[in-house]
Amino acid sequence: MDQIRITGGQRLSGRIPISGSKNSGLALMAATLLTGEPVTLANLPALADIASMTALLRQHGVEIKARDGATSLNAEKIISTTAPYDIVRKMRASVLVLGPLLARFREATVSLPGGCAIGSRPVDLHIKGLQQLGAEIEVTGGYIRAKAPKGLKGANVVFPKVSVGATENLVMAATLAEGETVLDNVAREPEIADLVALLVALGARIKGAGTETLRIEGVPQLHGAKYSVMADRIETGTFAIAAAITGGSVSLDNTRLDLIDSLAERLVEAGAVVTKEENGFQVSAERSLVGIDVMTEPFPGFPTDLQAQFMALMTVARGASMLTETIFENRFMHVPELRRMGANINLHGSSAMVRGVKRLTGADVMASDLRASASLVLAGLVADGDTVVHRIYHLDRGYERLEEKLVGVGARIERSRD
Ligand code: EPZ
Repeated sequence: MDQIRITGGQRLSGRIPISGSKNSGLALMAATLLTGEPVTLANLPALADIASMTALLRQHGVEIKARDGATSLNAEKIISTTAPYDIVRKMRASVLVLGPLLARFREATVSLPGGCAIGSRPVDLHIKGLQQLGAEIEVTGGYIRAKAPKGLKGANVVFPKVSVGATENLVMAATLAEGETVLDNVAREPEIADLVALLVALGARIKGAGTETLRIEGVPQLHGAKYSVMADRIETGTFAIAAAITGGSVSLDNTRLDLIDSLAERLVEAGAVVTKEENGFQVSAERSLVGIDVMTEPFPGFPTDLQAQFMALMTVARGASMLTETIFENRFMHVPELRRMGANINLHGSSAMVRGVKRLTGADVMASDLRASASLVLAGLVADGDTVVHRIYHLDRGYERLEEKLVGVGARIERSRD
């Protein structure tokens, strides 16, 4: 297994190119099951999760070819409508094939994803929503077995809770349902708008992207298109925090400031300077930042996927900060590891009280999930001495060429065998 060694204390300076979005890319790839014509996706990041989705789609029969920096996916000949446990257990986003398969082939069998390091993560909202579109669904033997012998029918679905994945599954399914579907209380994450833009390019009729209500007028079939995946806002935010935590100055290219407004506002409040640029923005921090409070919320609120990284920043800020997690029940796995590096953090239920310390010290730490791992790398960038992050396969799920990008702005970081 690989590990990453970081020698702390370098002030980062320069430019980092941001890759395509993992979470958007996964949904867009699943959406290609909705049409028998080829769909070409540019700017897909080279990540372990994207490789898992590629493996899943290939076993359904999708032909996938990479050429000239883009990936062409052709779901003309589907040979299986079952997503097996072996692939789904590796990546929860596999459940996104449920809606498209059911809508186009009138049946789908998808393994239940199960829990993971950040919480129990049920899929009841996906199932209930599809049932409202007329699907007959049974959950037996660890599988979601769905069918709609006469096709899905448009309906009004009000989500009791905001869910990114359930919104994605339902909007994809509704594109081929008969009549109009109205989805209320949907997620407004930028990845939803990206998915809707692809679906519209494929011929779907959807209104309301970026609002709480999506209206979808079903069409009999969709066609092919070319589309470029949006920038990864969590990678963007992670590197913005890397600039701030090292007192550096870094320009993030091929991305957009409006994707991470909530983080940018908190960085400025804490004392950093954020400047918009033509192809992205710059973050610099000349002096140590001050502690501020943050609560995670659905978009446009502060993203849960940046909570761990922001906590790393707060461990070395002046004063105290309270970080409250409202999306996942168990997303503080980084806390004991940050404490091993000298951080002063107390947990009270879903809140973490962080009291800034003058310095962190390098240590051996263990990565538990993707964003927790990123927070340990950020802490390592400012810690005295060497930090070794073990089990970094989590990082490879979500950060493309992480070490190379950090080395490019002056970090001392290298990968080796554990
Ligand atoms: C997406 O997960 C992202 N994953 C996550 O990113 C992200 O943390 C999350 O949205 C929240 O922003 C992908 O896009 C592939 P949800 P998703 O459904 O869709 C509860 C990362 O690090 N819920 O919006 O699974 C759920 O338990 C990952 O890149 C139900 O109760 O998240 C959670 O408390 C991790 N029933 C809340 O809703 C359901 O049927 C929000 O989850 C579905 C969700």
